[in-house]
Amino acid sequence: MTQENREQTLVLIKPDALINSLTGYVLSQFSEFHSGLRFAAAKIVHVSRMLAEEHYSEHKGKPFFFSLLEYIRGQVHYPNDPSKRRVIALVYHGPGAIQKIRNIAGPTNPHVARDTRPGCIRALGTVVPVKDNAGNTLGDRLDNLIHASATAPEAEREIKLWFRPVDIPPLMRLYPIEVSQEHFYFKDGQLFTSYVPGSTCLIAPGEIIWTSDLEVLQGKSSICTFQAVAAKYLINSYPEVD
Ligand code: RTP
Ligand code: MG
Repeated sequence: MTQENREQTLVLIKPDALINSLTGYVLSQFSEFHSGLRFAAAKIVHVSRMLAEEHYSEHKGKPFFFSLLEYIRGQVHYPNDPSKRRVIALVYHGPGAIQKIRNIAGPTNPHVARDTRPGCIRALGTVVPVKDNAGNTLGDRLDNLIHASATAPEAEREIKLWFRPVDIPPLMRLYPIEVSQEHFYFKDGQLFTSYVPGSTCLIAPGEIIWTSDLEVLQGKSSICTFQAVAAKYLINSYPEVD
């Protein structure tokens, strides 16, 4: 495969797809036979608040932001069963991966999807009005079953947010890696380079890490916050039932 064909995209199978048993349908729509793409990574994730906020950081401040967090975190579809709150995160790899997956997914709004692209995955989604506590309508929540990266920079940011380098087979990795020489610990939103009681170890010396994550942890770059890096290394560490 040539360098320009080495494209990857992030897909999230969201809680509404899980509760409606659409996982198999989505996977078969995206299968190598239909899309020409290959799996590069797969993971079942209990989505923390930190991870959800980082994933949807571009929507911070919009009226639907909080309902978006509740939706991706499974609180909407599994209000009484936190153990079922999961998404399936996938990386697809191959020529034109981003656009191919977006085409099969279809338009963001399921009503538009049904009108303009019947048969696409998101045509099976729903639109739910969101109200505040006083009953005023704030807008719509678009329950559109899957997330798919929209551009190459977005795909890189998102793949690095959901996956460690070692989650991806080495010959399929597209982004630079390094071996950490240091420890990094996290507690109450703060980063430490040596253990403090109650902290969680994010990275130990000898572990493989995205170079861009290491630069953020070392304060050499601010392409994202260290909380964003921590959110990935804490995936599935603790249950969050808020
Ligand atoms: P996605 O990121 O989930 O693949 O969707 P997208 O690129 O087609 O749409 P984007 O603008 O990135 O929106 C992300 C998710 O936010 C919800 N949304 N609601 N009420 C609204 O106007 C609105 N706009 C977006 C959707 O759930 C969408 O998937
Ligand atoms: Mg998007």
